[in-house]
Amino acid sequence: MATSQRILVVHGPNLNLLGVREPEVYGHTTLDEINRGLETQAAAAGAELRILQTNHEGVAIDAIQAAMADCVGILINPGGWTHTSVALRDALAGSGLPVVEAHLSNVHARESFRHHSYISPVALGVLCGFGARSYALGLDALLGHLKG
Ligand code: DQA
Repeated sequence: MATSQRILVVHGPNLNLLGVREPEVYGHTTLDEINRGLETQAAAAGAELRILQTNHEGVAIDAIQAAMADCVGILINPGGWTHTSVALRDALAGSGLPVVEAHLSNVHARESFRHHSYISPVALGVLCGFGARSYALGLDALLGHLKG
């Protein structure tokens, strides 16, 4: 993969609180630690990341639309928007970019309202339940897909 190939990483709402927020569910790893790991992993594969965490849905949608111009794929943990947002799904589908959905927790083992994802039908695949490793597995899957 050429170094100019960039992947957008989007962390949705409340994920800025990782490490502090419900650690029994989401673990003790902070978002900075996750991002550093992803940067290292991407660099080793010759890829570049644009990482965004936002609590604002419109900001996430703007970033996804912007990625259409200069990114080759999207890794996203949509947080609570997973279960609510047609608009986010439309943005991801409309981008035409390969999307991998990642969740720290196993959403299927939790409350029933977390069992449905608006995002999964427009994603290449979904990684959930592996804590911070879900992101690493998701990035690996996306890089593998891009390599062909
Ligand atoms: C989450 C799961 C969602 O149900 C929840 O709203 C989150 C985090 C996860 O990473 O496990 O904010 O996406």
